[in-house]
Amino acid sequence: MDILSGIILVIHMIGWAIVLGGALTSMREPRIAKGVTHGALTALVAGILLVGLVEMGGGEVNNIKIAVKLVVALVITAMAFWGDKNQEKVSRGFLGGLAGLTVLNIAVAVLWR
Ligand code: HEM
Repeated sequence: MDILSGIILVIHMIGWAIVLGGALTSMREPRIAKGVTHGALTALVAGILLVGLVEMGGGEVNNIKIAVKLVVALVITAMAFWGDKNQEKVSRGFLGGLAGLTVLNIAVAVLWR
């Protein structure tokens, strides 16, 4: 992996860390913190860029794994944006779902080899 893909991978992981951290730290007073939508969008765009960069560099990505991650990531991003617009409807369970799906995708990313 060259330096550019490496940097994008770091951005990708920081973005998801913001989503997970933001969801967990808002549990006491349930809401979607502003950073969560930004983190999700940044991470999503970085992930898509990363697929292109890895393939351009002659590497291979597991397309089925990426498809699974993409579907889950789109659900996470949609939930974050919906919650941002409907803050009064955001509950602990909703934030738990957001955090759980993010953890699921981290597990898919790391354990599916
Ligand atoms: C909640 C959603 C996501 C999480 C938590 C996540 C997490 C991660 C993590 C932890 C890694 C590093 C693992 C490793 O290199 O072994 C990684 C790598 C990567 N991710 Fe994601 N990701 C998500 C969504 C996506 C999406 C939507 C895409 C693209 C459409 C994507 C594309 C990639 C690529 C290309 C890599 C490089 C390594 C590989 O081929 O697996 N990710 N992701």
